[in-house]
Amino acid sequence: MEKKRIATLTLDDGRNIELPILSGTLGPDVVDLRGINKLGIFTYDPAFFSTASCSSEITFIDGDAGLLYYRGYPIEQLAENSDFLEVSYLLLNGELPNASQKEQFDAKVKEHTMVHDQLARFYNGFRRDAHPMAVMVGVVGALSAFYHDSLDINNPEHRAISAMRLIAKVPTIAAMAYKYNTGFPFMYPKNKFSYVENFMYMMFGTPAEDYIPNPVLVDALERIFILHADHEQNASTSTVRLAGSSGANPFACIASGIAALWGPAHGGANEAALNMLEEIGDVSRVKEYVQGVKDKKYRLIGFGHRVYKNMDPRASVMRQTCHEVLKELKLENNKLFGLAMELERVALNDPYFIERKLYPNVDFYSGIVLRALGIPTNMFTVIFAVGRTIGWISQWIEMVADAEQKIGRPRQLYRGAVRRDYVPVNKR
Ligand code: CMC
Repeated sequence: MEKKRIATLTLDDGRNIELPILSGTLGPDVVDLRGINKLGIFTYDPAFFSTASCSSEITFIDGDAGLLYYRGYPIEQLAENSDFLEVSYLLLNGELPNASQKEQFDAKVKEHTMVHDQLARFYNGFRRDAHPMAVMVGVVGALSAFYHDSLDINNPEHRAISAMRLIAKVPTIAAMAYKYNTGFPFMYPKNKFSYVENFMYMMFGTPAEDYIPNPVLVDALERIFILHADHEQNASTSTVRLAGSSGANPFACIASGIAALWGPAHGGANEAALNMLEEIGDVSRVKEYVQGVKDKKYRLIGFGHRVYKNMDPRASVMRQTCHEVLKELKLENNKLFGLAMELERVALNDPYFIERKLYPNVDFYSGIVLRALGIPTNMFTVIFAVGRTIGWISQWIEMVADAEQKIGRPRQLYRGAVRRDYVPVNKR
């Protein structure tokens, strides 16, 4: 029998407690702190940098080695060989589908791509210039009001149908946000297209013209969705889990994830990277701009990562895609893209970046690809949300089905005023 491993915590007053050490299949061991409150103390770990908030079987990251696996499969292999719906099946069910499972899954998603006609009326309540992420938070949350028949989170069939609805409808809702913003009519989904083709059709098609998807561009967006499909317990996924831990319905939970993703420190980085390229403006300013970075006046957006201290494996895939897209669209000599490639070249060869292991991250390349695809900057985070919806819902389902799951309730280190008595206003 395997020996039980323990860690001993001793307080300065001599009291101590033995805590089990748990091992996962990959990654560092964790100390199980659940018994610690027997000593009347808590741990202090703002932003959970040292805390595993759950156990999960979905995604594994090793930032030092630059590894990202979905259900054990390296992201590079999935990006190269798979498609987004197959990756969605994998994340949701734990295994790759066989041919008939894949066919059934794809068909099921297509069954749910339309939204209730009443839902389309929500858009009229928004200003035309509303940020599409504001629309996404509102409209995805509003889905809760349409599916009363399937909101019993303890029923596995209800959870499964809600997952299908979310995967299928979020692209439709996202494309409608874009159309509303630009004043073009909404495009109903067309089931002759693949999932990604359909999204591009709803974004860029009009009733006046036939839409012919470009396979290189479809492939690029397919990869962006695959690369963003899940990323372990990041801020938005943790938000989905925390909201879900109270028993909230999946549509409300995913809306909370979209809200968390909206922040510039999370989903907004590729938008910020593009803004930086526009601020630099011309390839002749790259050297001067990089010097400003080295003088610590500002940071190079799209470089470095909190977890990956090696090349982010998603960035390697996106880099190749970026070059393919620029070639296909004959944009290699475009001013902005030329500038981006020069910035990449300078940064990859400069000792400041090499010594600090600051590689271009996935957002640097995905921003360039999305811009080349004609997607406006304010839709970048929306695209991220479309890809991440499968990760959020897979993590939500895992959490709800987990026997150890309880309502999330972090504690605090209170540093406010000690007890004091109320003083009437005329005596203050
Ligand atoms: N440009 C210039 N210098 C940098 C950068 C950068 N982008 N990132 C880190 N550094 C320097 C930093 O100044 C420090 O230098 P020194 O040792 O001389 O003080 C050193 O590198 C280590 O920095 P750090 O702050 O300890 O690194 P971190 O791991 O805490 O920061 C980061 C990670 C992502 C916040 C940071 O790299 C950054 O601000 N990058 C730019 C913003 C960006 O692209 N964000 C998107 C990340 S991907 C998002 C996602 O996956 O969802």
